[in-house]
Amino acid sequence: MKEEIEKLKEEIKNRLRDIKKEEELNNLKSDYLGKNGKITELSTKIKDVPKEEKKSFGLLLNDIKTFANDSFISKQKEFDEKRLNEQLEKESIDVTLPGTVIRNGSPNILEGMLEDIEALFMSMGYDVVEGPEVEKDLYNFELLNLPKGHPARDAQDTFYIKGDEILLRSQTSPVQIRTMLANENKGPIRIICPGKTYRRDDDDASHSHQFTQMEGLLVDKDVSLADLKGCFSIIAKHLFGEDAKTRFRSSYYPFTEPSVEMDISCFNCHGDGCAICKSTGWITVGGAGMVHPKVLQNCGYDSEEMSGFAFGFGLERLAMLRYGITDVRTFYTNDLRINADRKDV
Ligand code: DAH
Repeated sequence: MKEEIEKLKEEIKNRLRDIKKEEELNNLKSDYLGKNGKITELSTKIKDVPKEEKKSFGLLLNDIKTFANDSFISKQKEFDEKRLNEQLEKESIDVTLPGTVIRNGSPNILEGMLEDIEALFMSMGYDVVEGPEVEKDLYNFELLNLPKGHPARDAQDTFYIKGDEILLRSQTSPVQIRTMLANENKGPIRIICPGKTYRRDDDDASHSHQFTQMEGLLVDKDVSLADLKGCFSIIAKHLFGEDAKTRFRSSYYPFTEPSVEMDISCFNCHGDGCAICKSTGWITVGGAGMVHPKVLQNCGYDSEEMSGFAFGFGLERLAMLRYGITDVRTFYTNDLRINADRKDV
């Protein structure tokens, strides 16, 4: 028996030495340790061995099993190492090659502008208030002094969600109404309301069915148009530089009286006339006015005691002017170049 085991060992050693491929090792393993392998067969013979020899037979069996296992494992290791070395050689990295530049992201232009304007107003004690984009006709029009059938509704035709009472807001002005209604003591208010607005416009370079507005409302005692002008001047200088001039032109909004258009001096030609300002020297950036007494009353305010100013900017328009973007659709068509490397927002 002992000789038989020694012979097996020799045989395994020799066959291992000749092996070139990993698959051959697998065959070899099953030739000895597989179901019908030589060592496995040997183990079945233990039942025929006389009782007193069983122990030494068992020891020898263990010995050859351990030997075979260890030999196969160490051969497997040789193969593994060889494979690893080959792989390392193939995939060697040249650390002297220049790396791939990972570009930092920057905020979307509109988001950057919003945060910039919000920070400015918060520094003046304003709160930032948001309202729903799906709005009631009551807040979007009715309480803003725009009853059904009012001609000024035509310019703000929007998308109706349910009957003619629930719609996508056409302006951020309903947030004024919501805030004044919710203010229980009917005291002073200072808010700005940024957000998305919608209109049934056909999209082109200067129109979009979805756009962003920035609303402002200040209510207090003794507020005058001069306060509005001061506030507008601060915004203009903040966005377009210290030498930005402002002017009001009279206008009409049902929810303000008087109403104005807010113009800034053309930052491009400084009044000489160019394509951006259509040779007028001025650029209109928003609407504003003194809150109409009827709107104050609609929201439970005493219009004899309290007054206020309100304004609304189109944010895309401001961003287009500030960054020289010529097509409003750029904001919504995922062209990342409009945000690239912008360090000023
Ligand atoms: N909501 C107006 C619009 O979308 C803009 C506006 C004008 C807002 C005058 C105001 C305002 O608060 O006082 O055209």
